[in-house]
Amino acid sequence: MGMSAAEPVDDPKPGVAARPAAVGDAPRRKVETRNLNLYYGPTHAVRDVDFWATQGDITAIIGPSGCGKSTLLRSLNRINDVIPGFRMEGSIVLEGEELIAPGVDLINLRRRMGMLFQRPNPFPSSIYDNVAYGLRLGGRVPRSVADGIVESSLKRVALWDEVHDRLGSSGLGLSGGQQQRLCLARALAVEPEVILMDEPCSALDPIATLRIEELLHELRGSVTMIIVTHNMQQATRVSDRTAFMLVGEGRVGELVEMGPTVELFSNPRDRRTEDYITGRFG
Ligand SMILES: Nc1ncnc2c1ncn2[C@@H]1O[C@H](COP(=O)(O)OP(=O)(O)OP(=O)(O)O)[C@@H](O)[C@H]1O
Ligand SMILES: [Mg+2]
Repeated sequence: MGMSAAEPVDDPKPGVAARPAAVGDAPRRKVETRNLNLYYGPTHAVRDVDFWATQGDITAIIGPSGCGKSTLLRSLNRINDVIPGFRMEGSIVLEGEELIAPGVDLINLRRRMGMLFQRPNPFPSSIYDNVAYGLRLGGRVPRSVADGIVESSLKRVALWDEVHDRLGSSGLGLSGGQQQRLCLARALAVEPEVILMDEPCSALDPIATLRIEELLHELRGSVTMIIVTHNMQQATRVSDRTAFMLVGEGRVGELVEMGPTVELFSNPRDRRTEDYITGRFG
């Protein structure tokens, strides 16, 4: 069963037998961290994380409050750089390119890795302009091209039918669930390769949540998605792979284990994962 070290089989811990590789092509790692350490000033927030998301899949990050889920997620497109004192050590590789390096084009990086936050955050402008915003950052776009992209992006998030006759009205006038779909359309309009989502449904009601989850399913394959969620049911419903984090020694966040979602929940390798998913910990 020759499995080369370079093959992206989900991460066996030292001394733990590797899980068998999937039949056919092994999934490709789209973005990957190695020995990633994250700090807020003197506070060591996340320790030695080897995390990856496979191409076109949905990877969930779960774990108790304060374990560093958001910090890890926000390091990937270097949006946490804006926090004074935030520091990273180690490696983050996107498609072969090292991101913890001088000279990385952060604007382009954030276009390639879009984001969806906990609270929908449409701009105080029209629905149209919300979606067209990112296009204009890339330079002038002819109106007809922008029109087409706005329409297709709104269709991808199943919002077109609801808003096509009021594209000029404010995005803030939409319901919470519609606003979050608008934000997803805004992210999609620039054709991102990865979308990072930090508890994107926690401010939404169950029906709006299910709509977002359906959309994520539809985007599978074309976009690589990483979703932080507090909700283990959500992780099992939407994700292909799950990473479990915990506040470890010295109150520093750690990645305990990561694997196919079904296996992580049905047969966790680490006792701490089992305790968490069975509710013995929390
Ligand atoms: N801006 C900041 N400045 C200083 N410390 C921070 C900052 N943001 C987060 N931290 C600290 O980093 C650690 C990880 O926080 P983080 O927000 O990543 O956790 P989380 O897993 O996302 O938690 P939650 O589930 O509550 O959102 C915590 O100890 C937190 O206090
Ligand atoms: Mg968080």
